[in-house]
Amino acid sequence: MQVKQQKSIKEIDEVIKKYHETGGLIRILQKTQEIYGYLSEETQIYIAKKLNMPMSEVNGVVTFYSLFSTKPKGKYTIGVCLGTACYVKGANEIMKKLKQTLEIDEGETSADKMFTLIATRCIGACGLAPVITIGDDVHGRLNVEDVPKILEKYQNSPEKNYNTPNNHIK
Ligand code: FES
Repeated sequence: MQVKQQKSIKEIDEVIKKYHETGGLIRILQKTQEIYGYLSEETQIYIAKKLNMPMSEVNGVVTFYSLFSTKPKGKYTIGVCLGTACYVKGANEIMKKLKQTLEIDEGETSADKMFTLIATRCIGACGLAPVITIGDDVHGRLNVEDVPKILEKYQNSPEKNYNTPNNHIK
C-alpha cells in the first residue's frame, strides 16, 4: 500500500484495532475517511486485508453509503438542492452556472481542489428556495448572478474548512 505518510497508516491501524472487536466496519471506514478525506481503492484493499475480509465486501459498503467518497473532495463541498421547491425556483440554472463557473460536473472537484459539487435533496429550507449549501452554510433566494460572488467569498477565506456534507445523494 502506498500511503503518503507512515503516520496515517499507524492511525488506520489504531482505528482498526479499536473498532474491529465491536464489528464496526462502517465505523472503521468513517474514521479512515476522516484521516484521508476519502477512501481510495488501495485504502479499501488495506482495510480488507487487515480485517481478513474480501475487498468486495468493503467496497460494497463504501459504494452503498453516500457518506463515503472514493474520490478526493475539495476544501468546500457545494450542495445544490434539487428538491421540488428549489427546482421550481430555478435550482437547475444555479447548478448550470456552478458547473460552468467551476468547469466541473456533478460529483466532481474543481481543478484548484477548492470545491466539490453535488446535488442534494430538500434540506428543509424551502422558504429560501433556491438554496445551496457550502459546508454548513446555507445560501438562499439565489440568482444565477449571485454565484460568482459567493464562490469568491469562499476562495478568499482559506482559513475556513468545511468538508462535511451530510445530506448528499448519489
Ligand atoms: S426543496 Fe430545496 S430546501 Fe426544500
